[in-house]
Amino acid sequence: AVSIFNAVAQRIPSRIALAGKLLTEHRQSTIHELTVENILHGLRGTPCLLWEISETSPLGIKYHGKTVTELNALLPKWPMSTQISPEAMLWFLYTAEIPTPTQLKHFSNDLISRAELPLDAQTFCDGLSTDIPADTQIIMTLSFLSRYSKFTAAVTKGAHKNDLWKYVLEDALDITARFPMILSRIYANVHGLPHQPWSIDLDLAANYARHIGREHDTDYTEFTRMCWSLYMDHGTSVSAHAMRLVSSAWTDPYLTVASGYIAGTGPLHAKAIGDSVMFNLALISALGPNATKEDIATHVGQHLLGGKIVPGFGHALLRVPDARLVALTNFLETHPSSDPKVDDFLNLIQSINSVVPPLLREKVQGMRNPHPNADALSGSILHAYGVPVDFMLSFFACSRAPGFLVQQVWDRALGLSMERPLSLTMDELLAKAETK
Ligand code: MLT
Repeated sequence: AVSIFNAVAQRIPSRIALAGKLLTEHRQSTIHELTVENILHGLRGTPCLLWEISETSPLGIKYHGKTVTELNALLPKWPMSTQISPEAMLWFLYTAEIPTPTQLKHFSNDLISRAELPLDAQTFCDGLSTDIPADTQIIMTLSFLSRYSKFTAAVTKGAHKNDLWKYVLEDALDITARFPMILSRIYANVHGLPHQPWSIDLDLAANYARHIGREHDTDYTEFTRMCWSLYMDHGTSVSAHAMRLVSSAWTDPYLTVASGYIAGTGPLHAKAIGDSVMFNLALISALGPNATKEDIATHVGQHLLGGKIVPGFGHALLRVPDARLVALTNFLETHPSSDPKVDDFLNLIQSINSVVPPLLREKVQGMRNPHPNADALSGSILHAYGVPVDFMLSFFACSRAPGFLVQQVWDRALGLSMERPLSLTMDELLAKAETK
């Protein structure tokens, strides 16, 4: 079967030719007029970062021109699974091709064979005090592993710049497998569980689920596959953009991913997943499990009066319902819990998600999209599965990190420049605006 290295290598000439055409035929073409609003509002609406693997717009995301729904139908699934395989999604992001089942199996075997941490990293990770927050332990272990970066070793040895993508890909594949291994290891350490060897007979999600003691929870493994496929890439979100910026200086992929993780700890970004769970639990503890929509509206109204945000609502980019939220909702419908309490909890979350948008529209001036995004439900489903809030960010980072690393591989394959825009003060901005 064609390896991922060969599949990427086959695609490189046509992509380099396209970059060359853009630069020779359209070097000075204007594609967007930059406004003062763009500059003051976080470059919203400014199409200015080249992204090889997907295209995001207010209408949603397409991966190499395909929607999540299309990919769900096209990508091969693991035997006995009804969810997109994260490994198949990853192959597709790297190559823009649908992998054959044989390619997928070889790819998965390659990944699992890379999962084991070097002995010194195991000792480092297992030696971390279990009262250090999980996120910090993960960032520390990733940073420790940076000494194993094959990319940095190649740069240090003076490898030709045209070959650097291969070393980024080596690191990217190592990290794709090691990230869930680190998460499982830290989870097992914190919860006193034995470490499990990873098996090539299982995919990444099933190995991870087994390591954290959920070997027999098929629904949880299926949920993991779905989330890891859906969260791999969402364009230049804060974590991906942080990784893009950092890696543009040829920072190694381990530290790049650590920087993305740190970016994810912002409450306006991925921390919103856990914050949304805490918000929902606080609401339930204040109003009881049988809260009516009116009770919820009063509670949320008071919360908003305090000038606080409701985590998981609105989106910096999307102006249509988040396709990932639709997929999560479908998952709940097709995988109902056998525990009525869990069903009641998730039903209440759905009520919260329907009550909040009109309130946000009424009470928060200028909010363009008051709808719940994927973060308003994903964490609550994990909570229903018994996953502690402090392990939620890492659950999603297991997917965002490999997704971004595809971009890092392509950045080196295309020889893209370091990111370095100009900065200007408000006084200069005013002077420029007034002379227009
Ligand atoms: C994400 O998946 O990163 C979030 O939806 C945030 C974003 O896209 O800006």
